[in-house]
This record gives sequence, C-alpha cells and structure tokens, in this order.
Amino acid sequence: MADVTVRDAERADLLDVLRIEKRCFTEPWPYAAFESFLNEPGFLVADREGSVLGYVVADVMPNHGRDIGHVKDLAVAPEARGLGLGRRLLQRGLLALSFAGAAVVKLEVRVGNNSALSLYRSAGFDSARRVPSYYADGEDAYLMVLDLSEWGGGG
Ligand SMILES: CC(C)(COP(=O)(O)OP(=O)(O)OC[C@H]1O[C@@H](n2cnc3c(N)ncnc32)[C@H](O)[C@@H]1OP(=O)(O)O)[C@@H](O)C(=O)NCCC(=O)NCCS
Repeated sequence: MADVTVRDAERADLLDVLRIEKRCFTEPWPYAAFESFLNEPGFLVADREGSVLGYVVADVMPNHGRDIGHVKDLAVAPEARGLGLGRRLLQRGLLALSFAGAAVVKLEVRVGNNSALSLYRSAGFDSARRVPSYYADGEDAYLMVLDLSEWGGGG
C-alpha cells in the first residue's frame, strides 16, 4: 500500500466515499452529511491512483480552552482491509485534529465491532463509558477517549 496517498477529501471524492459508506454501514450517512464536512481538517481519504479506498471524518469543537476532537466516521473498502489503511487514516486524522487544536479526541463505536475496537485501543483510545442503545438498531456504543497530550502519534 506504498502507492496510497492520504490527503484532504475533495468534492470529487464524495460519490466514491458514499459508495464505500453504503457497503460498510447499516445506517449509512447521506451525501449531504459528507458534504458538510468538506472543509474540516479531519476529512481525509486514502487514494490509490485516483480511486478512493477509505476515509476518515473528524472535526474539532471548542470547549472552554480544551477543544474536543471527534472521530465521526472511518471506513475502508472491504477489498482493501487488513493492509494498514484504517490505521493510517486514523493516525493522519488524529494528527490533523491535533494541529487544529484538539486536546482530547472522542469517538463512539459499536460494542460488537471488534476490528474497530482493536484498532482504537491500539491507537491509545480508552473506553470511557458504555452508552445504551446508542444506535438506531438498539446496539450499545462504547464512548472512547484519547488524550492527545499523551499521544505519541503512533499506535
Ligand atoms: C475498522 C476498519 C476501518 C479497519 O480498517 P483496516 O484497514 O482493515 O485496518 P488495518 O489494516 O489498518 O488494521 C489496523 C488494526 O485494526 C484491527 N483489525 C483490523 N482488522 C481486524 C480484524 N478482522 N479483526 C480484528 N482486528 C482487526 C487490528 O487491531 C489491526 O492492527 P494489527 O494489524 O496490528 O492487528 C475496517 O475494518 C472497516 O472499514 N470496517 C467497517 C467500518 C467500521 O466499522 N468503521 C469503524 C466505525 S466506528
């Protein structure tokens, strides 16, 4: 995957992103949701020769001097998984949030999503609490948190 570039998402990427989103999630985001994140520092795509293989969507909210980054979406096309792209996207997203001033980063993940949980834990996220019925189908979420001041950029 040396020929994969992680770069800012552009409008021209949105249909590819939406196609991957629909293959990955039972409750996919609509086009307009991705569109609204186009200028956020944490909306990045993994691009191989002009085709999008995965993406991360994250933003930063002001919070009384301790700004909070939020990883809102992360997905890799099924045929491109297990090659390190999810980890690369997450790390680049966290770096972008850090540059944008985030002190801590939060995210929600399905309690049954073992791949994502393993990725987030190995990147340094801790489960802060379990949120009952967070998803529309009734599944619980873990709210996970990473303190960027203690984050070494690895994972
Ligand atoms: C979660 C996801 C983004 C991981 O992407 P990926 O490119 O396959 O991940 P990577 O190859 O970078 O692997 C990174 C780590 O993820 C974890 N992981 C990835 N696939 C896994 C699997 N099948 N089982 C268990 N852990 C797995 C491992 O910790 C792995 O680290 P390791 O290779 O050192 O063991 C991908 O599985 C995906 O798109 N899933 C569907 C969408 C989704 O659930 N997104 C998260 C929403 S919160």
